[in-house]
Amino acid sequence: MMNRKPTIMITDAGHFEVSYVINPWMTPDAWSKDREGYRQKALAASNALKAALEAAGADVLKMDGAAGLPDMVFPANAGIVLDRRMLVARFRYPERRGEEELFLEFFRGLKARGLLDVVEQFPEGVFQEGAGDCIWDAGRGHFWAGFGQRSVRESIPVIERFFAAPAVPLELISERFYHLDVCFLPLSGGEVVYYPSAFSEAARDTIRAIVPPEQLIEASDEDAAGFCVNAVNIGRNIVMATPPARLKAVLAERGYTVLPVDLAPFMMSGGAAYCMTLRLDRAHETTSAAPVLAARAAS
Ligand code: ARG
Repeated sequence: MMNRKPTIMITDAGHFEVSYVINPWMTPDAWSKDREGYRQKALAASNALKAALEAAGADVLKMDGAAGLPDMVFPANAGIVLDRRMLVARFRYPERRGEEELFLEFFRGLKARGLLDVVEQFPEGVFQEGAGDCIWDAGRGHFWAGFGQRSVRESIPVIERFFAAPAVPLELISERFYHLDVCFLPLSGGEVVYYPSAFSEAARDTIRAIVPPEQLIEASDEDAAGFCVNAVNIGRNIVMATPPARLKAVLAERGYTVLPVDLAPFMMSGGAAYCMTLRLDRAHETTSAAPVLAARAAS
């Protein structure tokens, strides 16, 4: 098998700020007390994230941000990518809708450069916030798709058709854990880190039907509130907002090395490592979607 480096896109943080509230973590008042200080800290944190991703083995591609669209630093929400096909998001809140055109333009540029083959967008009115709510599980050969907070359930059949891949719906029930990527993290060895109270009972049953108990790792309140579940896993490395010692130890025991990054300025907007990235080279691998298909047949 070819061993190519993962390609991960990030957005330049020069225009990042916390200026509106669309999730319970966002603190524009705190931000406005020291704009310049936080801006500097955000730039430093973004550089540290880039360095950690490179240390974990990725090639990092940086897109420009834009004034007035501070949440562009979270490109996980820009779209879903698999097999060089890009499906661009439709944002629920007007505050972020201006990002759609800019991301579309950038991805068309990647297509022109030969990095993507197809760039399309969700139909109008079908809210779906990209890889933040649709996570590819490489080992199991299917997506996990969050809905109920930002993305709508109707987005899921659209995903399945566009990528010709199964997407397992997971209903999110907490305002604080409004994207799947803040409460759900599949790892390369098959383990899944998740924060149970973010999910409906049906979603928890679905997770337990697909992931065997020995592979399920529960995140604590502290892990989840520290945005540690919102992490980037590359092989045996996990780039993560500075974790509590317990989580780090649990992961180490399973053979993972955590590369911690202080992402405090971005947590003031309700995001951390995973949502600050978008992996562009995800592809169907040879493994099959057997577990999810079996679970479907049984229900
Ligand atoms: N302030 C952003 C929002 O509320 C944060 C997005 C974080 N993204 C994520 N995929 N978790 O949309």
